[in-house]
Amino acid sequence: MASSSLFSIQTITLLLSTFFFTPESISFTFPGFKQDDLYTEESTVIEPPNGGTATLTKSEHNAIGHAFFPHQIPMFNATLSRYNSFSTQFVFQINPSTSNEGGYGLAFTLSESRGFPGGSGGHFMGVFNESNRNASSNRIFMVEFDTVKGIDEDIDSDGNHVGINLNGMNSSYYELTEVLFQKSRPIRAWIDYEAIGKRINVSIAPFNNSKPEPLISVVHDLSNVLLENMYAGFSAATGADKWSSHYILGWSFRINGAADHLDSSLLPTVVANSDSNGKLRNALLAAISAVLIISVASLIGIVLYRRSIGFEVLEKWELDCPHRFRYGELHAATKGFRESEMIGKGGFGTVYRGVLPTTGVVVAVKKITSNNPLQGMREFAAEIESLGKLRHKNLVHLQGWCKRKNDLLLVYDYLPNGSLDSLLYNPDPSFTVVLSWEQRFSIVKGVASGLLYLHEDWDQVVIHRDVKSSNVLIDGDMSPRLGDFGLARLYDHGKNSHTTHVVGTIGYIAPELTHTGKASTSTDVFAFGILLLEIACGRAAVAYEAHRNAILVDWVVECMQMGNVFDAVDARMGSEYAAEEMELVVGLGLLCSHPRKEMRPTMRQVVRYLNGDEVLPLLESLSLEGSRRVDEITARLLQLGLVDRVLRYSLDSMGLGVSVGGVISSTSIDGGR
Ligand SMILES: *[C@@H]1O[C@H](CO)[C@@H](O)[C@H](O)[C@H]1NC(C)=O
Ligand SMILES: *[C@@H]1O[C@H](CO)[C@@H](O)[C@H](O)[C@H]1NC(C)=O
Ligand SMILES: *[C@@H]1O[C@H](CO)[C@@H](O)[C@H](O)[C@H]1NC(C)=O
Ligand SMILES: *[C@@H]1O[C@H](CO)[C@@H](O)[C@H](O)[C@H]1NC(C)=O
Ligand SMILES: *[C@@H]1O[C@H](CO)[C@@H](O)[C@H](O)[C@H]1NC(C)=O
Ligand SMILES: *[C@@H]1O[C@H](CO)[C@@H](O)[C@H](O)[C@H]1NC(C)=O
Repeated sequence: MASSSLFSIQTITLLLSTFFFTPESISFTFPGFKQDDLYTEESTVIEPPNGGTATLTKSEHNAIGHAFFPHQIPMFNATLSRYNSFSTQFVFQINPSTSNEGGYGLAFTLSESRGFPGGSGGHFMGVFNESNRNASSNRIFMVEFDTVKGIDEDIDSDGNHVGINLNGMNSSYYELTEVLFQKSRPIRAWIDYEAIGKRINVSIAPFNNSKPEPLISVVHDLSNVLLENMYAGFSAATGADKWSSHYILGWSFRINGAADHLDSSLLPTVVANSDSNGKLRNALLAAISAVLIISVASLIGIVLYRRSIGFEVLEKWELDCPHRFRYGELHAATKGFRESEMIGKGGFGTVYRGVLPTTGVVVAVKKITSNNPLQGMREFAAEIESLGKLRHKNLVHLQGWCKRKNDLLLVYDYLPNGSLDSLLYNPDPSFTVVLSWEQRFSIVKGVASGLLYLHEDWDQVVIHRDVKSSNVLIDGDMSPRLGDFGLARLYDHGKNSHTTHVVGTIGYIAPELTHTGKASTSTDVFAFGILLLEIACGRAAVAYEAHRNAILVDWVVECMQMGNVFDAVDARMGSEYAAEEMELVVGLGLLCSHPRKEMRPTMRQVVRYLNGDEVLPLLESLSLEGSRRVDEITARLLQLGLVDRVLRYSLDSMGLGVSVGGVISSTSIDGGR
């Protein structure tokens, strides 16, 4: 009962929010927000998380809250070589504290990053601070709705005002307004920029009024404020002695067109006093759930009816799936699965880029064509079950699915930066992007956190079974998402896997897996260790290069034996890396990919090592750096069980029927066939 009403509530919000994303036209409309609609930071919460207000700050002092549309928005049209027009409408509400006059206000922002690290509270509204308040390097478009007088007494002499702040805290334009912000009632704001005439209009009005003449209407060229891609969002802050609760009730945005009007009747109301309003809300939720349960039941009825007349056979698991797409829609989205739309090919299927015709959302569609429909279906079901329910910022989110005959289609979020392997070692010589160490280290931490979630933080243990760099996708702000759960099998805590055949990718397969065929969290840790070494060394797990051991991990151990493990580090980074972090990542890579599984840490320990909560044992006993004698190091490595790898690997490879020295491509293999 509980889970079905949760499902229902998500469905209803899904129907109300729209989201349109193609390079030519970007728009979104959120009449209220669900948790995933926004990227939130610091004190911001979505209340309630299934659909409610974005509460930037609650009534408390020294708070800062940020909320951003999660995706970058293209602000520049290269064909026309000018910035795009944009338009936004939002409804906000500010409830002042009962014990003081309230403060300090909120702002709409367009910025380079999804966040304002170092932003101060109070007058700075969580965006700028005293040292960067008018730094020339800022690229921030900010419209502030200020409720406290006085950062610059002369221009800002009264509280309640609207200001346009370009790249700094000082308002280039500002106006006092009779619409009083701190009245605990919703207020609607419109901001429009028209790129040809370069006019910026800002209007505000009480919630139920129509759009008035602009409060501010100025001509200003934003070309030194805007960037090619920016994040849109909100920031609010309170101060030490004055505080308010700042809420966003709804938000629409559009590039090159007018933002959608937010229908007052659809917007959530502020949950200010959880006691009385909570009851009302629960009653409402119960009513909505009841309606939805009835609709779901009738839907099931229709499905059963269609099934009985031989329409489309839906199995039980299909009914529980998060979102089912029509085949025609995915066919159109991918231009009929045209080769030009192909963005990847893996062991289990081909991946296409697609633009959903109804919404314009860009997605990645994975097409799995199976000779054996039954087995395919089971794999498909496993993937849906696990992925559909799993939600973590470092996992690729499954939006939906579809099946037709032997074609199984999975629809994922589209991640523009592709997979990690293509960023680490791209064979295309014209590809010159080099990931910085900072980016690599944060990718390491992100993947670790995603894998920990799979292993321990969910109610069932999920073994990934195919952790590798081509399964790590990189999103717009370079954070990693672990994808491809086609091989995942769910099993209960404490139970062992019963599968008997080896599935994985050469170079990432733990030795015991080839012997016992049993995947475990520890075989995932092994593969994760290899991934760490790839990230540090910028080399594939298995790569044939002159004068270097083809097996990455053995080559790293060789460098270590020779007294300088840093020789293995990706030369393209030069010396631009933090030595202790590098030591940690390489050391951890070796420990995780230890041939003996009892030596490997758990993902929870891995995360502790990466956060510096615990010291890596390998580092304690063996300094990876410096000039110890080779025999001394070798003896230590032998003691740690790290130097018999070469032999072991050759045997394992031969056991799989692959001869060392031949060309091994890093595609998935299925040892069971
Ligand atoms: C640039 O503007 C032109 C003309 O309005 C339009 O056809 C094209 O789709 C735009 N391109 C992008 C990438 O926005
Ligand atoms: C001010 O903000 C900048 C940029 O976000 C940050 O680098 C700097 O550390 C901050 N300064 C202070 C004093 O917090
Ligand atoms: C801001 O810039 C102006 C001139 O551009 C300068 O006089 C002033 O000192 C700067 N203020 C701060 C706080 O950096
Ligand atoms: C702040 O903006 C005003 C115009 O609103 C301008 O006169 C003043 O010089 C600016 N101050 C700084 C420090 O940039
Ligand atoms: C700005 O406001 C003026 C005055 O109402 C109007 O003529 C103009 O079309 C508006 N521009 C935009 C981009 O909304
Ligand atoms: C807006 O109008 C509706 C009726 O049209 C009314 O129920 C609601 O209370 C009004 N809201 C505000 C904040 O005035």
